Amino acid sequence: VSLKPYNTFGIEAKANFFCEINSTEDLKQALRLKEYPEKFVLSGGSNMLITKDIEALVLHINLKGIEIVAENQDYVVIKIMAGENWHQMVLWTLARNYGGLENMSLIPGNTGTAPIQNIGAYGVELKDTFVGCEAMNISNQNIEKFSKEDCNFGYRDSYFKNEGKGKYIITSVNLQLTKRDHIKSTSYGAIETELQDRGIGEPTIQDISRAVIAIRQQKLPDPNEIGNSGSFFKNPMVSRSAFDTFISDHPNAPFYKISDDAYKIPAGWLIEQCGYKGKRYGDAGVHKNQALVLVNYGNATGQEILALANNIINSVSDKFGIHITPEVNIIR
Ligand code: EPU
Repeated sequence: VSLKPYNTFGIEAKANFFCEINSTEDLKQALRLKEYPEKFVLSGGSNMLITKDIEALVLHINLKGIEIVAENQDYVVIKIMAGENWHQMVLWTLARNYGGLENMSLIPGNTGTAPIQNIGAYGVELKDTFVGCEAMNISNQNIEKFSKEDCNFGYRDSYFKNEGKGKYIITSVNLQLTKRDHIKSTSYGAIETELQDRGIGEPTIQDISRAVIAIRQQKLPDPNEIGNSGSFFKNPMVSRSAFDTFISDHPNAPFYKISDDAYKIPAGWLIEQCGYKGKRYGDAGVHKNQALVLVNYGNATGQEILALANNIINSVSDKFGIHITPEVNIIR
């Protein structure tokens, strides 16, 4: 089976064995197949760079369904199965006027992978609405419940990227959303500007979603047109002393203060300063509107994208003394 349609980078790679998972029972049985000791979990394929053919049995997670599991006058808790497309689910919540996900409109990928890297955009992260998830323990096929604390969320980080890596397959996610008195987060510069341009003073959650969709469509390539995995790198975090040196050398650089001793510097800016923005090497390239996004113009291999990523990491390190790391999961 070709995995090209199953990864948003559009990388051509072969899976020797491929299995569609439509229920948790399917998942249990597939994990028990002794003939295939190695399993490879594939969901939305939106945060991975495949650099080789996959020998393992590929489990394509296609668990579907959204249901309300608790509700009062103010809040609703919805349970979303892992294979639900994230953005379609966000639209489902907005159609019912449930608030909390509007800033995270149009993020590619499926809901089950959202907790792994605590997805976020425009000032809001998954953890802000997350109340828990269920995941199948790969070693004994039991479904285990995880609270928000268990998940140990950080910036593009969680338990599932660390101690829990390779041990669980998330099967569903519970989110708590507002039914009224929505908490609107519009202070992120790009949203403020977009709402102003639209002449909207008191935005509804639907207005915020439309603004976010417009911003993303301008800045980020649509994976259906040009292969990509969103931000390829994380924004690096530096200490106060490193930041002081950096900002005196580069007084016009953008930055976010995280705490007194932690500053985040946009990797996109660092990469652009190194001259990579819009550059193309064969079919591998750096997006013209957002240097944080690597793109596949058609037939780039995973190795070519990876080589470009490594060149970028080295250039940024040489020029700024700052080490940037990939955000996407690289399958070697
Ligand atoms: N910038 C440049 N050149 C570029 C790109 C950005 O100078 O090519 C500068 C911008 O001018 C701005 C700053 O960098 O001052 C930040 O840019 P932007 O607001 O576009 O956000 P980002 O830091 O590049 C992060 C997330 C995105 C998320 C946006 C909006 C990470 C790794 N990325 O990008 O997430 O959509 O903020 O909240 O944290 C993703 O994770 O896949 C993703 C797209």
